[in-house]
Amino acid sequence: MKIRIFKDVKAVALYAATITEFVIETNEIPILGLATGATPVPLYQELARFHKGGLSFQHVRTINLDEYVGLGSTHPQSYRYFMNEYLFHPVDIPLDQTFVPDGTAVDLAAECCRYDDIIHRYPLDLQILGIGKNGHVGFNEPGLSLQAQTHVVKLSQDTILANAKYFSEIRDVPTLAITMGMQSILQAKRILLLATGFDKANAVVRAITGEMSTNMPASLLQLHQNVTFVLDEAAASQLSFHEATGMDVIKQA
Ligand code: PGA
Repeated sequence: MKIRIFKDVKAVALYAATITEFVIETNEIPILGLATGATPVPLYQELARFHKGGLSFQHVRTINLDEYVGLGSTHPQSYRYFMNEYLFHPVDIPLDQTFVPDGTAVDLAAECCRYDDIIHRYPLDLQILGIGKNGHVGFNEPGLSLQAQTHVVKLSQDTILANAKYFSEIRDVPTLAITMGMQSILQAKRILLLATGFDKANAVVRAITGEMSTNMPASLLQLHQNVTFVLDEAAASQLSFHEATGMDVIKQA
């Protein structure tokens, strides 16, 4: 595991964008696993800037982690809408090369199978992840068990509360979502987990140095051979370098 600590959110975004650019430029058909939420927004803004400077997304395929059940692509809080807004429209990627689960599918089980077929067809070169304060990745929520493949999940109360700020009322937050499973995430060739802000510091330290447990889904990333936690100083503030001994840690001077 690598840990890279930067002074601020902007430096986190620039580092992650530079790695994404490298993946795009060194693969004939680059396949990116993408995340939503506040954390990756500065990364997508950097990528849009790189695009203005000449980086093309014409050959890229993207596969998003998750989508709310019940929200369609025109709903401003749907993750399809978010991705179109922050990344897909600002760059030159053909929309039919971008995949987000369909939260309005009538048959959700069939939609999960369809999504797994897409994941099998396009093995991920790079997976971008955020982390929930409760340790979730995608919408793989803490619990007694985790699922390997794409599935429908009941959102935890923590997640509903965390995401309520994007909706006019808490009761408008969907209670179900479709999420890629842990196996699909762990099969990515490379993973960048981005975390910024003090409110992520505890989840970050538990994910990196805690026991691997389904109660802390991000701790399963300890199993991956090419994962980098890309943190700002606030998100890294509970990490003790003593505990991180043996890990590859670099802090921006
Ligand atoms: P956030 O969400 O980036 O909005 O904090 C991260 C997540 O829940 O995975």
